[in-house]
Amino acid sequence: MRDAIVVENLVKDYPTRKGPVRALSGVSFRIQAGEIVGLLGANGAGKTTIIKILCGLVRPTSGKAEVFGIPSHRPAVARHVAALLEGSRNVYWRLSVEENLRFFAGLQGIPPREAKRRAQELIQFFGLQEKRNTTANLLSQGMKQKLALACALIKGTPVLLLDEPTLGLDVEASHELRALIRELAVSQRKTVLLSSHDMGVVEDTCARVIILSRGRVVADDLVPNLLALFRTRAYRVSLRNGLPEEALRRFSSRFSSLRWLPEERTLQVELAPGQNFYELVDSLREMGAEIEGLSRSEPDLEEVFLRILRKEKEAE
Ligand SMILES: Nc1ncnc2c1ncn2[C@@H]1O[C@H](COP(=O)(O)OP(=O)(O)OP(=O)(O)O)[C@@H](O)[C@H]1O
Ligand SMILES: [Mg+2]
Repeated sequence: MRDAIVVENLVKDYPTRKGPVRALSGVSFRIQAGEIVGLLGANGAGKTTIIKILCGLVRPTSGKAEVFGIPSHRPAVARHVAALLEGSRNVYWRLSVEENLRFFAGLQGIPPREAKRRAQELIQFFGLQEKRNTTANLLSQGMKQKLALACALIKGTPVLLLDEPTLGLDVEASHELRALIRELAVSQRKTVLLSSHDMGVVEDTCARVIILSRGRVVADDLVPNLLALFRTRAYRVSLRNGLPEEALRRFSSRFSSLRWLPEERTLQVELAPGQNFYELVDSLREMGAEIEGLSRSEPDLEEVFLRILRKEKEAE
């Protein structure tokens, strides 16, 4: 597979009056053509900076950022990349939905007839038919966001950079937009790099996730692998008759990360390296506990994200 995006040892210092602010300190990753990758990180982690560098809006201090082999600061990169920036800032408030679309198509050098055809298609796709002639400033937040995405799409580039595409959308619109992003990626084989604070969005649309912390990559893996990292060793055991105080004490000395949830009569245990599952079941039986149900606790992406960031902080 061809690499659509290559980022190597990327460093960005923003100059400020108080001296340079380091936004990225040596970020590296590769994204193959056709991948949908999520970019996660706390506020200020560097997500927007990466996206702005990749679409040529910000110049890196050092390191490499390329799209299909073209350095991202070269104007030619615009043929390959379209970006949806934070807060749908890339639409013109005074132009109507259709005018916005045709304007952005024109910028890309798309002939007027073709631009008109594509605009119709996108208006249909995003369900904006009734708002075709409405100026952007009069659209609802969700419609503005859809229009901003449509303006990025009309360029027809193979790579899409989406910075918080569902920001400010209601639950329904957010789900709609997720479905649209998935559909685009599949039907048009787009390469997508998407940042979001909404884990549902990332889990729903991205196969792979890159987690940033203070300008560094701290995790980069397929979503199922990241989930598995924390899944396999955590269990929930529900006990028919609860657990006597004394048994709980003895149990706590053997399994350190134990939690007893009395209302649910459930024990949460995370096995340490070297401990196995049967050891857990055997010691419960020895104590006369009757096991009613047993499940692996399934962490979600949000939990994985928080744990990785916590580990990172501890390491520092
Ligand atoms: N134009 C700028 N001038 C100075 N510092 C900046 C500028 N833009 C961003 N920064 C700083 O760079 C760092 C990374 O910012 P960036 O916007 O890339 O983070 P982010 O991950 O997108 O955060 P958020 O989740 O809040 O959108 C932050 O410390 C931020 O304060
Ligand atoms: Mg940002």
